[in-house]
Amino acid sequence: MTKRLLSVENLQVSFATRDGENQAVRGVSFHIDAGETVGIVGESGSGKSVTAKAVMSLITPPGRITAGNIRFRGGSLTGLSEKEWRSLRGNRIAMVFQDPMTSLNPVKKIGQQLTEVIRRHRGLNKEAAFAEAAKLLRQVGIQQPEQRLKQYPHEFSGGMRQRVMIAMALSCQPELLIADEPTTALDATIQAQILDLFKELKENSETAIALITHDLGVVAQVCTRVIVMYGGLIMEEGTVEDIFYRPQHPYTQGLLRSIPKRGGGSRERLIPIEGTPPDLLDPPPGCPFMERCPHAFGRCSERPPVVEHAAGHRSMCWLAEGTQNQAAAYAEGRTSGE
Ligand SMILES: Nc1ncnc2c1ncn2[C@@H]1O[C@H](COP(=O)(O)OP(=O)(O)OP(=O)(O)O)[C@@H](O)[C@H]1O
Ligand SMILES: [Mg+2]
Repeated sequence: MTKRLLSVENLQVSFATRDGENQAVRGVSFHIDAGETVGIVGESGSGKSVTAKAVMSLITPPGRITAGNIRFRGGSLTGLSEKEWRSLRGNRIAMVFQDPMTSLNPVKKIGQQLTEVIRRHRGLNKEAAFAEAAKLLRQVGIQQPEQRLKQYPHEFSGGMRQRVMIAMALSCQPELLIADEPTTALDATIQAQILDLFKELKENSETAIALITHDLGVVAQVCTRVIVMYGGLIMEEGTVEDIFYRPQHPYTQGLLRSIPKRGGGSRERLIPIEGTPPDLLDPPPGCPFMERCPHAFGRCSERPPVVEHAAGHRSMCWLAEGTQNQAAAYAEGRTSGE
């Protein structure tokens, strides 16, 4: 039986700007079960980080959640007090941020920062917490961790600071780890090490991971399920196999054509998706991908329905609705002209 860890229903987030309301997230619904590794992908500005921050209750003015419900282990997270949040955040739900530079205290040694978190959450004494901190640093690929723990953040490279943040997030053995572009700043070797760590977590612990990334290759390596976002909405959602082998939404199909295939050779032509994402200050009422979609037709100017193709495989597209209606008509022995 699956254990529903997180469920997000109709989440909407907007930011008040000088030019109007930036409707960053416009009605997003998804779930994450215990132990799952879910990839959240989509072009820049599609609402991935804002969704993650909303889950962590970290949307601050001028941003606000305008609608929706977020549940963790069945209990509503919307409306919790900051005190209640403190016992959840960085404890049962942890997040690694896209910009790690701002997340470490520059005047405290790495060891002090890491052991503080470990002691607070796990009740270990100083020596045990230090040993645990060293173990975690080693796990994220930092050599000579005992020496490193005595250094300050400025003595670490950007990639190493990112790994410290991952170690810190893991130190409290969270039930849900949200990692926002955790490997983008890292070179290939370290990236592979971090991905191995995620795979290990997936196999050996109940920690669920929401992995936000631009890199579909990373998703293919570590995720079990994928959520594809665009223009503040979820365009498609399914297992890794659904998304890579049976993509239904033209946006997902475009994304897949625009990534290099591993071992594909340099002659492989990549086809970028032409055009630019929609203006979220004045988003189109219909499908946000309409302007760039090679299959767009009249109906796309209305918000498309979410169509289920197979268990858990859904897309938000009028084309899919058409296919489903045709399939239903066929099954009922009707023809399309009736
Ligand atoms: N503090 C803010 N004030 C105003 N607008 C914001 C703020 N934070 C985010 N936004 C807007 O919300 C939208 C979604 O941003 P978000 O950071 O979620 O994108 P993303 O999918 O994470 O992109 P990237 O891949 O570049 O990280 C963007 O239009 C962005 O400009
Ligand atoms: Mg982001």
